[in-house]
Amino acid sequence: MDAVRADVELHGEPCGETRPAPCGLVIFGASGDLAHRKLLPSLFRLQRRGLMPESFFVLGAGRSGDTASFRAAVIRTLEGIGAGAAEAADFAGRCGFAAGAYEGDELYAALAREIEARSADHRTGGNCLFYLALPPDLHAPVAQRLGAAGLLRESGEEAAWRRLVVEKPFGRDLASARELDRRLKSVLGERQIYRIDHYLGKETVQNIMMFRFANRLFEPLWNREHIDHVQITVAEGVGVENRAGYYDRAGCLRDMFQNHMLQMLALVAMEPPARMEADLHRDEMVKLLRALRPLPREPAELDRSLVRGQYTPGAGMAGYREEAGVAADSVTETFAAARLMVDNWRWSGVPFYLRSGKRLARRVSEIAIAFKPVPHSIFAPLVPGSAAPNVLVLNVQPEEGIAVTVEAKRPGTKTCMGSLTLRFDYRSVFGVEPPEAYERLLLDCMLGDQTLFVRSDAMEAAWELVTGVLETWQAGSARGACTLHGYPAGSWGPPAAGALLAADGRRWRTP
Ligand code: NDP
Ligand code: BG6
Repeated sequence: MDAVRADVELHGEPCGETRPAPCGLVIFGASGDLAHRKLLPSLFRLQRRGLMPESFFVLGAGRSGDTASFRAAVIRTLEGIGAGAAEAADFAGRCGFAAGAYEGDELYAALAREIEARSADHRTGGNCLFYLALPPDLHAPVAQRLGAAGLLRESGEEAAWRRLVVEKPFGRDLASARELDRRLKSVLGERQIYRIDHYLGKETVQNIMMFRFANRLFEPLWNREHIDHVQITVAEGVGVENRAGYYDRAGCLRDMFQNHMLQMLALVAMEPPARMEADLHRDEMVKLLRALRPLPREPAELDRSLVRGQYTPGAGMAGYREEAGVAADSVTETFAAARLMVDNWRWSGVPFYLRSGKRLARRVSEIAIAFKPVPHSIFAPLVPGSAAPNVLVLNVQPEEGIAVTVEAKRPGTKTCMGSLTLRFDYRSVFGVEPPEAYERLLLDCMLGDQTLFVRSDAMEAAWELVTGVLETWQAGSARGACTLHGYPAGSWGPPAAGALLAADGRRWRTP
């Protein structure tokens, strides 16, 4: 049956948003991709929406450069996203730059001087957010130098805050993640550390919480009695782009599963926190991650729970090994699909199928909750086949929204049934584009709300699962086990990913 656009009315007051107290922001790696594609545009949009502090400054930090060239670059970036000349210049006027080697003393001395002077000019009371938009091997050294320079100390009469934002990847495995954490915590308290997983800032990912816990309708059904299985898909159309240097050492499991995929799984499956407070929320997230059943350590058994793939040439596109910067014999996985089990009372026996990959058929991220079929179909003799089970789909991107399929009677004098899709589409209901995840996350950093940031115990729990797999892959590859399946660019991944579900009598949805 055709999909039908439901008529959705939105009631309720628009929410009040809070403006942070005055502060400074220091962006390390301010000439980089993340700074110019995400951070600076997000800060600018927050300012446009009246959500930046009444008074603030932005300091770029890097190996070379000065305030004039940084301001010019900021203006180019903002104009590139549609800012008018005057508003771009106004924003750039709050920006400054400090230069020096990341592992030398000069940069930190310059930063100390700049922060002190600008804090006085902008009356920020010394509040300062440091953002590490830098290659990962610089995260710990820079944090420790900031600490040594006294820049992370929260002191003074006004008890100014100092916070540090760390980008993923948080280490390469459990041991390196623990070591990074140890070094961060040698200069910072956990409440000063903001580990960003930008998926947690996506509007539709946050909506999982509201949808589950603000509606009576779903909670009674949200368990093993009614849910057959869950599918989480994050498919990317793009290949490795210009990030081969990083990606070829990381692979899909580290790049997407350890963080985005497992965080979404935790939101879908966690118990409700008593209140929406950062630590109560994060306690539930970590409990869920700790309930994930470790994947098999025996290579052949692991192959039956987790499929890895690498894209080959297809649809006029190069294969992964032909990409610039990728080794011709690279065995890095650009795709992974897994069956995960959550060993707790609510989810016993319910598989969670997760898949993510680059160069798939199209860009789409969704979470599909597949319900069990009705226990007995009274229409069976009249309608061929039994009623299709209901599916609830949370569309994370690019068509943000929610869709639910229900069985309904087709119009006519006969008893004909069909599946009907009721769809709520974010843009058509709210009339706006969902905000960029970094806007929300940067705002929360300034407000001191850690709810949407990964706590160290959750990070470790996710690494525990992933590190086991990485070790088995390494050992298995040496023995010629643990298959790396090829899949043509532009497809939905290797057939083995389909076989993973087929073995359970299920199949992947085509999003
Ligand atoms: P870039 O490769 O663009 O590097 C950022 C800046 O770091 C550069 O502009 C440069 O600044 C400095 N830098 C780069 N290489 C070196 C080096 N070898 N030695 C010293 N300094 C160097 O990184 P991104 O902006 O893409 O990413 C920054 C962080 O954010 C990383 O941890 C990444 O994993 C993470 N991330 C990025 C995402 C993205 O969309 N880009 C998404 C998710 C996470 P300068 O020359 O001015 O010193
Ligand atoms: C990043 C990964 O964390 O997320 C990238 O490093 C990936 O490889 C990106 O492309 C996907 O994010 P989004 O928001 O485009 O889905």
